[in-house]
Amino acid sequence: MYVVEPVLNRFYRKKMRSVLTFDTGSFSIPPCKAGAPGDYLLYVHIPFCETLCPYCSFHRYVYDEGQANAYFATLWQELQMYKDIGYDFTGMYIGGGTPTINMNHLLQTLEKARSTFSLREISLETNPNYLIPETLNTLKEAGVNRLSVGVQTFDDALLQEIGRFEKYGSGREIQDKLRSAIGAFDTLNVDLIFNIPLQTPESFRCDLDVIGDLLPEQVTFYPLMASPNVEATLRERLGAMDFRKEKQMYGMLLDRMRDNYTGSTAWCFSRKTSMIDEYIIAYDHYVGAGSGAFGYFNDAIYINTFSLDEYIEKIRRREFPVTRVKKFTHQETLYYFFLMKLFGLSMNKNDFIQKFGVSCRKALRLEMLLLKLAGALRENDTTLELTDRGRYYWVMAMREFFIAVDTMRDHCRMLADTRDGSDGTEG
Ligand SMILES: C[S@@+](CC[C@H](N)C(=O)[O-])C[C@H]1O[C@@H](n2cnc3c(N)ncnc32)[C@H](O)[C@@H]1O
Ligand code: SF4
Repeated sequence: MYVVEPVLNRFYRKKMRSVLTFDTGSFSIPPCKAGAPGDYLLYVHIPFCETLCPYCSFHRYVYDEGQANAYFATLWQELQMYKDIGYDFTGMYIGGGTPTINMNHLLQTLEKARSTFSLREISLETNPNYLIPETLNTLKEAGVNRLSVGVQTFDDALLQEIGRFEKYGSGREIQDKLRSAIGAFDTLNVDLIFNIPLQTPESFRCDLDVIGDLLPEQVTFYPLMASPNVEATLRERLGAMDFRKEKQMYGMLLDRMRDNYTGSTAWCFSRKTSMIDEYIIAYDHYVGAGSGAFGYFNDAIYINTFSLDEYIEKIRRREFPVTRVKKFTHQETLYYFFLMKLFGLSMNKNDFIQKFGVSCRKALRLEMLLLKLAGALRENDTTLELTDRGRYYWVMAMREFFIAVDTMRDHCRMLADTRDGSDGTEG
């Protein structure tokens, strides 16, 4: 049966777009609230990659060493500016782009961050070509606890289609590299994507077989998320998206992952209690540093400029490089909390009451009623939990949330390209 899903797809697309409308202007960052410094995660964005994958709507440029030198020097100043107004962080997540693209700069950033902030956990994204013993040892010594590797698929034909075979190797080579890295960190996470056009259920089943054989500590299965720009590119190169296939593949992965994993989020599965991929649910607040980074704190989303030139200029003037802000209303704040907590599969109802002074049943009356009727939620006195059906609905909601974020990224990138006179080599 595929009846409720098309309606929900439309509902979530509209809702996420309307929630994620941003203000423009010049913005300042408020000093850290008293007593709160340790509550924040620091997200750091490194916007460089060797080549640009066609499905990706993250903020990234083709690597250029001169640009990277200036970027890392500026990034450090931005972190220092947060320190100066009272922020401290217990967790750091370095994402991209490809953060390991310049190891010297990365190691210096890690060293400075560890001596400046009260970091207890560091998570880092990379690509399979960096899984070599020397790099793995260096990263471990530099304090990285969780390494997240973008694999996407082990299917050679599909790797060719998405432009990753040449650069990152065949499915077999990637498996061998992963095998050598499993156990080297507290958590080795493998990112896979499902519902890529041209990806068949059989091909996806083989990916699940490989995971069953490798058993990495953690696997994150992203549904393909296509902002309008990415969708147009993919349609031309690989064909149209099919959400029925998304549902089918999600059912396949839920069935298979149950044997050896527990769910950390609706799309992330862990073999033990490990650092989870979705920092947006592990921490209620996160600060975003670097060009194109998003932060969420003070009930607002802050987006840094996508223009590398503007980023460097602003920091040179000791201004925070924020280009867009979305201040949430009270209702939006509590909806965001509800969405993120249940993305982590369960929510303590008393936590909600404590935070917002009202029960979730009262605050989100219609939403709760519809989700209960659709069989998405299970509850007892203290806890609200997603059922298997609910998990898929949350995948849909979060897919639309991130597509709305990606659409905003596309827009900011267009403005940045116009400003910098870029030839569009950025994706
Ligand atoms: C932005 S990348 C950064 C790390 C690294 N460069 C890589 O390719 O893995 C992190 C992960 O985002 C996921 N991703 C990127 N674009 C996506 C898209 N359009 N839809 C779903 N997942 C996507 C991929 O699984 C990727 O591994
Ligand atoms: S998915 Fe590809 S383009 Fe996107 S960040 Fe990773 S390597 Fe770069």
